[in-house]
Amino acid sequence: MKVVAAGVSGFLGTRLTNALTEAGHTVVRLVRSEPTGPHESLWNPHSGDLDSSVFDGADAVVNLCGAPTAFHRWTQDYKHLLLTSRVNPTRVLAAECARLGVPVLLNASAVGYYGARGTEIVTEHTGPGDSFLADLCVQWEAATAAAEAADVRVVHLRTGLVLGMDGDLLKIMSLLTRLWAGARLGSGEQYYPWISATDHLAAMLFLLTHPVHGPANLTAPYPVTNAEFTKELGRALHRPTPWVVPEFAIRALVGEFADELVDGRRAVPAALHDAGFQFAHRTLPEALAAELR
Ligand SMILES: NC(=O)c1ccc[n+]([C@@H]2O[C@H](COP(=O)([O-])OP(=O)(O)OC[C@H]3O[C@@H](n4cnc5c(N)ncnc54)[C@H](OP(=O)(O)O)[C@@H]3O)[C@@H](O)[C@H]2O)c1
Repeated sequence: MKVVAAGVSGFLGTRLTNALTEAGHTVVRLVRSEPTGPHESLWNPHSGDLDSSVFDGADAVVNLCGAPTAFHRWTQDYKHLLLTSRVNPTRVLAAECARLGVPVLLNASAVGYYGARGTEIVTEHTGPGDSFLADLCVQWEAATAAAEAADVRVVHLRTGLVLGMDGDLLKIMSLLTRLWAGARLGSGEQYYPWISATDHLAAMLFLLTHPVHGPANLTAPYPVTNAEFTKELGRALHRPTPWVVPEFAIRALVGEFADELVDGRRAVPAALHDAGFQFAHRTLPEALAAELR
């Protein structure tokens, strides 16, 4: 299989390109600075300048582009970057897939699509929420329209919190917990749809070759509340976690990003389940046992 991949210098992309390469597939990485080898090709994800010949014979395009959402204060300028760093590359790659007949486009998205949902069980049939991130996800997914119109099999990877020690989230949360500073956020009742990094990678590989199209929640079958998550992480790391960070303190610290921490959504992976995907880590204790180092 030949895969053209963008936004792959980061957490999820490095794992994907390594796995594909180790399995003997050809990966051409679209890079934003000078290529360092024959499997890299320079592109500008905003203007669309790229070498179209890299798509010759491609079986799929995977697009994981996007400036980081977490651990940044969401100023107006940063919110603009969050949007354009996702919508622009998506529009460029969808147009190339349509024009050059690439059959499959896996495009990143997020469970933030659903907004704040309380305890409601959320599947891919649930509509979008009304937060900044929900609106961003709607625009992000709509940016693949050209590919869908050309019958490309487009999958929107509505990803939850990916747990792996090479990603910032688990690294930072486990460090805080080890330092006896693990705390629940706000009420703790908000649901966090998590997925182990192992299962996230397996799901992307599965979706490359299985006939799923449209949105797919990349989340484990059993989401937990923030309070349960905090407690379980403490248990795995043998630390108490009785503390609470109040919502006003979170808002003062991270601005509007606080919505994503204090509101939740109980997203479940209906599309992956229907397609027969088997999770290695169905529960949080299983995932933490496998991913914590
Ligand atoms: N990790 C999670 O828990 C999670 C959850 C939900 C959704 N997602 C989504 O999944 C995708 C990949 O996540 P990740 O954790 O691997 O993120 P990451 O480590 O931050 O990597 C994202 C990649 O996007 C590219 N990028 C960064 N800034 C950009 C910009 N201004 N314009 C265009 N491209 C830019 C970079 O790749 P290059 O340098 O190679 O261009 C970067 O490596 C993202 O779209 C993210 O929003 C992740």
